Amino acid sequence: MARVARHPRTGAPRGTGGPADGSRTGRCSGGTGHVISLRDLTRADVPAVRLIYDVGSVAFLPRGPMGEDEALAYVRTVGRDASGARSVHTFGVDADGDLVGVVRLRVSAPHGHLSYILRRDAWGHGHATRAVTLLLAFAFGSLGLSAVHAKHHPDNERSGRVLSRVGFVRTAAAGRESCYVLCREAYDPCPPIAGRE
Ligand SMILES: CC(C)(COP(=O)(O)OP(=O)(O)OC[C@H]1O[C@@H](n2cnc3c(N)ncnc32)[C@H](O)[C@@H]1OP(=O)(O)O)[C@@H](O)C(=O)NCCC(=O)NCCS
Repeated sequence: MARVARHPRTGAPRGTGGPADGSRTGRCSGGTGHVISLRDLTRADVPAVRLIYDVGSVAFLPRGPMGEDEALAYVRTVGRDASGARSVHTFGVDADGDLVGVVRLRVSAPHGHLSYILRRDAWGHGHATRAVTLLLAFAFGSLGLSAVHAKHHPDNERSGRVLSRVGFVRTAAAGRESCYVLCREAYDPCPPIAGRE
């Protein structure tokens, strides 16, 4: 019989199968009482996506704020990705019904590349950390990836702290970007901050 490695604190299966609640990515309860879940984006999310990619959030990104046409095209592309071969998985970050961010996993098996963004007024509550925790469970569990990579602008310390909290290790600076990796063996499905109640 195959042995399932279990998390020492929670007893949850490590890196196998999907979430217990039957969704693709599960949900996560936040320390402020917020329930964070990942969901697909729809056309109705266009105004919310624009607020997420507003001037306050894109300072460290190689892009400007998102206009209406771009937001519409973005949501359409995400929908096409979702119905296609799925080498890109993009989810909205839902906090109690409020779309506060977007997380994305680009897959080039057995590796993935993670990125994320939150609406500026949703920073500082742990939402990104919890959303990334859910996406990692999907990456290492449902998709069975062996490593997930991420990078950020070197001055983007908030982004670095999100990655460190969930177990990423800094590997190098490539040009103007700080690079990180999290291997499946080192992945903790319940990092301390994500389980804080
Ligand atoms: C990167 C980004 C998502 C980080 O947002 P964030 O709000 O700092 O991250 P979280 O949502 O995980 O919140 C963590 C912060 O909330 C605090 N916090 C407050 N209450 C909390 C709670 N109940 N639970 C957990 N954390 C809590 C944490 O202490 C932490 O603050 P600290 O880093 O100063 O210690 C955000 O800055 C962003 O969208 N930036 C623009 C896009 C970007 O740069 N993306 C990265 C490149 S891919």
